[in-house]
Amino acid sequence: MKFYQLTPAQRRALLSKQGIKLDEIEASTLERLDQLSENVVGQLRLPLGLVTGLLVNGHSYLVPLATEEPSVVAAANHGATLFARSGGVQSVSKRDGIYGQIILQITADIDLIKLQEQFPQLIALANKQFSSLVNHGGGVKNIKMRREAELLYLQVLVDPAEAMGANKVNSILEFLAEKLVQLPGITAKLFAILSNYPSQLTKAQVKLDLSLLGGLQVAQKIALLSQIGQTDVYRAVTNNKGIMNGVDAVLTATGNDVRAVEAACGVLASQSGQYSSLSKWQVVDNQLCGELTLPLAIGTVGGSITARKDVQQAYRILGNITTSELANIITAVGLANNLAALLAIATTGIQVGHMKLQARNLVANIPMTAAERSHVLKLMVKNKKYSQAAVAEYLKQIRGEQ
Ligand code: MEV
Repeated sequence: MKFYQLTPAQRRALLSKQGIKLDEIEASTLERLDQLSENVVGQLRLPLGLVTGLLVNGHSYLVPLATEEPSVVAAANHGATLFARSGGVQSVSKRDGIYGQIILQITADIDLIKLQEQFPQLIALANKQFSSLVNHGGGVKNIKMRREAELLYLQVLVDPAEAMGANKVNSILEFLAEKLVQLPGITAKLFAILSNYPSQLTKAQVKLDLSLLGGLQVAQKIALLSQIGQTDVYRAVTNNKGIMNGVDAVLTATGNDVRAVEAACGVLASQSGQYSSLSKWQVVDNQLCGELTLPLAIGTVGGSITARKDVQQAYRILGNITTSELANIITAVGLANNLAALLAIATTGIQVGHMKLQARNLVANIPMTAAERSHVLKLMVKNKKYSQAAVAEYLKQIRGEQ
């Protein structure tokens, strides 16, 4: 039997025989996870942290972040607190559809005008075939075409309603391609698949009073850092990594496709021909104004979202939200993480806060009592010494050992 044909318990037994020690897992959990993925042998768990009070469009949200990195959650909360004190984030999510591509091989003498005349009928056919999507408020919206020699590139825009829609869009594209190859001038389908090109753009904006940041000088430094990120690729990619810290954590918590969003963000950041920061900060009328636009092909239903208990818990924390709201929340979290990072860089540097939080990881797996742990942590922060050696030294000190 092939590995994928075994039950998860059989796979685990096989690994055990090879001397690989696996963590314990409940049989029912293992079975459930086996329904979700391939070749399942166990699970990987992440801490779920919260942003407590992200004010977006006048509504305060509790936002779940799935990440192993404490500074990501701390930064998101820091940014969110500053936003809340400034009236919150204003955000607009354009859920206008995701793209699909159908590439066709054509004859040299194809009549493209005649072909184009068929598009409304093809759209109607697809929307009839996939009527459940239309019933949920989505459907095929338009088809655009471009010819390059003997290839015809069709760009199909599909509104996936509240879902991310990748599977549905692929099925629609296959359906349309089947109809298209029957038309005169089209010899074959080369491929029909969704494109992860940036779409579903969400723009979040915030205006902060300078007093919240420590004055004009700090704000100007943040604006300068942002300006550097517009032209210097080394800074731009780091700036964007800071944004994705928060974005990916919410995407993970809400069961969304992190890879798709990351891929689209890379394209959006390069759209001017030069890779640059996704966010922009500037001082205008004595306020620090920030904005961030993200391409968010996300959903709140469908895929594994409905099937995963851990993800459903995240939606209960978020409240009863629409996919547009989730897109606004994600973009606001990205902006919050970005501001917290820029503020730290413009003032104390990021390492102070970062190492304090990292200290917890350093002591996590060393056997000691809760009181000792707290004491060791205090000493690490006080002496600014963050290493395994420091942990050992302080523990000895506390225990009165030589
Ligand atoms: C670290 O995870 C993220 C930062 O490097 C982002 C930034 O530099 O803007 C702090």
